[in-house]
Amino acid sequence: MTNKVTKAVFPVAGLGTRFLPATKSVPKEIMTLVDRPLIQYAIDEARAAGIKEFIFVTSRGKSALEDYFDHSPSLEAELERKGKTDLLKTLEDTNMDSGAIAYIRQHKPLGLGHAVWCARRMIGNEPFAVILPDDVIAAEKPCLQQMVEAYEEKPSNIVAAMEVPREKTSSYGILATGADHGNMVEVTGMVEKPKAEEAPSNLAVIGRYILTPKVLENLEQKQTGAGGEIQLTDAIAKEIDGEGVHGFRFQGQRFDCGSKAGFLQATVSFGLSRPELRDDLMGFIQDIVHMDKAAQ
Ligand code: G1P
Repeated sequence: MTNKVTKAVFPVAGLGTRFLPATKSVPKEIMTLVDRPLIQYAIDEARAAGIKEFIFVTSRGKSALEDYFDHSPSLEAELERKGKTDLLKTLEDTNMDSGAIAYIRQHKPLGLGHAVWCARRMIGNEPFAVILPDDVIAAEKPCLQQMVEAYEEKPSNIVAAMEVPREKTSSYGILATGADHGNMVEVTGMVEKPKAEEAPSNLAVIGRYILTPKVLENLEQKQTGAGGEIQLTDAIAKEIDGEGVHGFRFQGQRFDCGSKAGFLQATVSFGLSRPELRDDLMGFIQDIVHMDKAAQ
């Protein structure tokens, strides 16, 4: 078995109901932060981590994602004709090598674990990454790259982890922890979406994983967990006494783009990080904060 992580699974089958009506005809992964769709941030991060094969687990209504990662000959010809080389360059990141991207349908919404299991034949017998595009992470060194480096030092199942407020534990997979080595924490238990009073800690799983193929075998049992769904968390937890599980405290700022508030925060933050937008946007924010204070 190779120890190099070159494949990543992107579960993108969700309906995105929290963003209706926008997501009635647009997959939520195509919604944009400034001018790049959420999925582009996920792909960029995977590429930076050395991923060469990109496996999308999709559902009906997601064909815009396939078009997005395809060449657009008429658009490219038009931009070329007009000499818009800078715009042509912005399209480069959307191009994939032939055969580098694959789409698999999840026919029924049976849970995140089931979605990952749908990709089992493409993954085969090697370690693989999972990226949930709703979790956008701004970081100097991209989060998955940090995790690949951690994996190379300590091959095991590694989940990105972050402390969350106690009252939010019911939105996350929560870790029970043993020995704490700073960035890497030994995981002794994992619970999907526990109530605050039942949570073993407030250390939450964030949507980046490096997993061993054993997790796919565990998913094969198709056991249902929280919410009656086949949970990835439960299949990883089975490896605590097997190949081991670590929480990885990443460096960076995570935005929950699965929620409207998180999405708006990410928009502002990514806008401010663009030199060409920063002054205008900052001036606007200062003005509205000032007006809001004056009105109180
Ligand atoms: C999923 C996982 C959960 C994890 C979360 C991170 O939940 O099941 O363990 O903490 O992503 O964003 P979802 O947000 O899909 O309900």
